[in-house]
Order: sequence, then C-alpha cells, then structure tokens
Amino acid sequence: MTDHTDTIPVNEPERQNYYIGKTASLIKNLEAGLGRKLTCYVATFGCQMNARDSEKLLGILKSVGYVETEEERHADLVLMNTCTVRDNANQRVYGRLGVLKGYKQEHPLMHIALCGCMMQEPSVIEKIQKSYPHVDLIFGTHNIYKLAELLYRLLSGQKNVIEILDHAENIVEEIPIERKYPFKSGVNIMFGCDNFCSYCIVPYVRGRERSREMQDILDEISELAKTGVKEVMLLGQNVNSYGKNCEGNPTFAKLLSEAEKIAGIERIRFMTPHPKDLSDDVIAVMRDSKKICRHLHLPLQSGSSRILKLMNRHYTKEQYLDLALKIRNEIPEIAITTDIIVGFPTETEKDIDDTLDVIRKVQFDNAFTFIYSKRTGTPAASMEGQVSEAFVKEQFDRVLALVQEMSKRRAMGMEGQCVNVLVEEINEHDPALLTGRMSNNLLVHFPADPSCIGKILPVRLKECRGFYYLGELQNS
Ligand code: 5AD
Ligand code: SF4
Repeated sequence: MTDHTDTIPVNEPERQNYYIGKTASLIKNLEAGLGRKLTCYVATFGCQMNARDSEKLLGILKSVGYVETEEERHADLVLMNTCTVRDNANQRVYGRLGVLKGYKQEHPLMHIALCGCMMQEPSVIEKIQKSYPHVDLIFGTHNIYKLAELLYRLLSGQKNVIEILDHAENIVEEIPIERKYPFKSGVNIMFGCDNFCSYCIVPYVRGRERSREMQDILDEISELAKTGVKEVMLLGQNVNSYGKNCEGNPTFAKLLSEAEKIAGIERIRFMTPHPKDLSDDVIAVMRDSKKICRHLHLPLQSGSSRILKLMNRHYTKEQYLDLALKIRNEIPEIAITTDIIVGFPTETEKDIDDTLDVIRKVQFDNAFTFIYSKRTGTPAASMEGQVSEAFVKEQFDRVLALVQEMSKRRAMGMEGQCVNVLVEEINEHDPALLTGRMSNNLLVHFPADPSCIGKILPVRLKECRGFYYLGELQNS
C-alpha cells in the first residue's frame, strides 16, 4: 500500500509527520470526489488519561484534514477511545457498536475505529472480530501516536486494520494536539502502573510504569503557558512514584516545585497519588505552594485492613487515616476526595463498617463509589468468596448515603465566602450562567458574560445546592 518511491522515515516523530502528509493527500482526493470535507466524531470513555489521549487523537485527525462533528450518525470516521477498568465501560462500547452498525448501513462510507485500554485485551479483539465485523480499525494504548499511519493503511484500501502492541516501544511526544480548553490542559508525566492492585486491570492494559524526563515536562508546561494555559493537571496512574527511571531520579515533589516556578501557570493539579507513597515532601510542597490547588484525590478503595491486604494496596486502615488527617492538619482548607470499591471478594458487613468509619473520620469532600467488577486476568478474579449482588447493592447504598451526607456537609461550610474560580464554560442547563471551578474542585454557577471564560475571577458563594454552589461575581 505504501508508496515505495518515498523513503519512509524510521524515527519518530518524523515518521508520523510523513504519514500525516500522506494521509492528508489521500483525504484531499476523497474530499474532491465527494465535494465536501470529511468529518470525524471522537467518543471518549474513562479517565483523565483517556481524555488527554483523545486530544492527541483529535489533533492528528484535524491535521490530516478531518473536521470535527457533533453528529456521530453522519460522521465519516467514528473513533471510540475505550476504557476497561470496569465491565460496564466495556458493555457501553458494545452497545454503541450495535448502534453504529445501523448508522454504517445508512452511510456506507463511514469508518469505525476503536482504540484505548479495552483493545489491549485479547478476548475483546476476538469478540469484535467475531461479532462486530463492521469495525475497520483497531489499535491500543501504546500506539495512539501512530493514528496517521494506521489511517493511511485504511484509506489506501486495507480492510480491518489492527495493530496492538503489548508494550510501549517509546514515548512519542511532539505530535499535534487539539486541546479541549484553551485555558487548561492535562500534561502526562508518566504512563503505566506497576502497583498491581489485585482487582485492577490497568497494569495489564497500560503496561509498565514509564516517567517522562522532567525537563520535557517543564518545557511542555512552559509552552502551554505561552499559549494562554492557566491551569495544568499533571497526569499519571501513580504520580508519587514519578521519576524512577529518569536521569538523576527526580521526585514528584521536585517536579511540583519546578512547575510552580513557571510564569503564567496559576493553578497546578495532579491525578492520581497512591496513599502508600505520598511523601511528606509532597505534602510540604503543597502546603507552601501558591499554585497547587487545594484538592487531593486520595483513593481509599476500602477501609478494612484485611480487604486492603487482599487488594495489595500496601497500607492499613490506620496508615490511611494517619496520612489523611496529617494532610488535613497541614493544609486545613484542602478538599480530600476518594475512590471506594464495594463488593470485593470475601467482603463482609464488618469490612464495610470499617470503610464507613474512615469516611466519617476523614470527612471526604466527595467520593466515587464503585461496585467491584471482576476483571479477567487479575488476581482478584480468581479469589474465592465472590460476593452476591444483593449484598453488594445493600452495602453500596449504605456507603453512598454516608458519602453524600459528608460531602454535602463539607460543601455547605463555604457558604458566604468569596473565592477565586477558573471560569470554564457556559452552564449546560442555563445559558445565562457560567460555571467556574474553585481551587478545591467544587463548581459554582453564576450569572456573567461569556467573555469571562478562561479567566480566574472572584465569586461570592451564595447558596449551596448540595454538591455545587450558586454564586455572584465580585468586582475584582
Ligand atoms: N472494580 C471496581 N472498581 C475498580 N476500580 C479499578 N478497578 C476496579 C474494579 N475491578 C476503581 C478504583 C480506581 C478507580 C479509577 O476505578 O477505585 O481508583
Ligand atoms: Fe490500578 Fe492500583 Fe495502578 Fe491505580 S494504582 S491504576 S488502582 S493498579
């Protein structure tokens, strides 16, 4: 398929730049035949990492000539960036594939592409090949930067292009990125995870932990600042272990304090730390920082030391409590949020009591509560004592009720305060309102002109509506 009169570069990113050019000319020819532009629709499932990956995918799609459309049904390319952390994410993708089959019958030129975590599972690929033959292109988590090359193969006539790598060959940056927001951006600091929590599929689908060199990260943040970005979110599955494979072994604390020095950046967030190695250095840097947001997402998973051991989390209930309370003590205005799994194998009512106890003691500002989902290939999937659905439902409701009570109580405590918010967008339900995010990650909706979007402005918190506020812009 490849035009052998050219020499194809071997190194990246030169090779992808070459394919961006080749694919762009194929698309130009298609456009000329159709008398219109080709459109693409990108659907993203899952976490912040996937959201960031989708910005990279969209960047490539736009640079080869696609225009983004909101109308999936009529798109020439539908790309789903999938998640597989829980089974319901997989089921949603299969559901969408059913719908897309109908769309493709109406619009035979449509190409359907799948990528991301779910595609790293061999059983998923088998199922798609057997039951969803209308999928044209499949790739995984380790080769998203190669989208232009893969599209070139597809658009030049190859059927069912599949490329799944079982590990990352290299970290390829410097490819086009289409940022969703001009004023805030994710920045990958590391990829993969080596923790192997016993329920989690991430280490199998995202591969071994790899950190980017600190200078590359700082350069990227400086570049973002120059283009008007005010808030960065440093992304990694386990940010505290940042730097292990890097020159000079930089620590996450060092990275944070270097990022703080970058002019133009006003807010720094990060996601996700692991409680087992959140160092005192990181807490001190956060405490003394003017830019690091007053929000820490610190996944608990379970409050029972027995379950935590089975989960391979490397901390006990008491160690988690000590850590969370130390952080509250050092940084009193901080919001602590968490993830909790209910229904892990062998879990009893007594274990859930321990989880409730931690929720009460830490007073989480918010918590994502998940029903345990059995992931094939993980150690927990073959553990004895899988628990019944009815038990899980009952326990899940107990956890959720307490989480909601705590988070409402925490949010209410801010009524009347005037806080700086980053104004992010027009309110989804009421176009007269704008939505701003506080340093502690709470949202406030307030009447203001859309020209405020992208600015950091003071807003008075007038009325707490449970998990968000209604407010009023103050004169700065
Ligand atoms: N079942 C339920 N929740 C899970 N998570 C990860 N794996 C599973 C699973 N198998 C949750 C954890 C993690 C969050 C991103 O997803 O709480 O912190
Ligand atoms: Fe999964 Fe644990 Fe790694 Fe988080 S730290 S991605 S829960 S294995």
